[in-house]
Amino acid sequence: MANPKIAVFASGTGSNYNAIMHAIECKELHAEVALLVSDQPTAKVLEKAEKYETETFVFQPKDYPNKASFESAILQALQHAQVEWLVLAGYMRLVGKTLLEHYEGKIINIHPSLLPAFPGLDAIGQAFQAGVKVSGVTIHFVDEGMDTGSIIAQHPVLIEEGMSRDDLQTAIQKVEHSLYPKTIQQLIN
Ligand code: GRF
Repeated sequence: MANPKIAVFASGTGSNYNAIMHAIECKELHAEVALLVSDQPTAKVLEKAEKYETETFVFQPKDYPNKASFESAILQALQHAQVEWLVLAGYMRLVGKTLLEHYEGKIINIHPSLLPAFPGLDAIGQAFQAGVKVSGVTIHFVDEGMDTGSIIAQHPVLIEEGMSRDDLQTAIQKVEHSLYPKTIQQLIN
């Protein structure tokens, strides 16, 4: 049977996209990334997609009258590529009705904190500022809210004495890069 087709949505560096591609190469993840969707034409993730020869759909929201209209364009590209699952990895937008309705229960996101603590922007900085001793990574289903969908997997990261914000980011990303491919594999099969 053919591997399930997924689309990765990313706005930035794409280290999670890289980790997913690496897991596919190593046969730890049995999926095909059929499309990379980005709202940032200069995002680093696009260089990575070129290297892996992943097809891309790049758009700028300002070129469309509203969210429904750019999501319809995304939807067309997703359907053309026969994508079954949407995997958000640093996609800096709320997903709207158009995609939520067509991919109900099939959209997931990774967030760098133990939700429901520290939702939204700069979760790593928020946790660091708050002085908590434990933060971590959450993978959750996407709904219309900001980091509010039901939780699929979580992994803690200890914030040890003397750790800088950058150290925490490195520790969190290390967890993300193994937890995301593993969780995707469990979900799609
Ligand atoms: C990750 O920390 C993820 O948890 C958050 O955005 C970041 C994306 O990083 N949603 P990258 O672009 O995959 O390197």
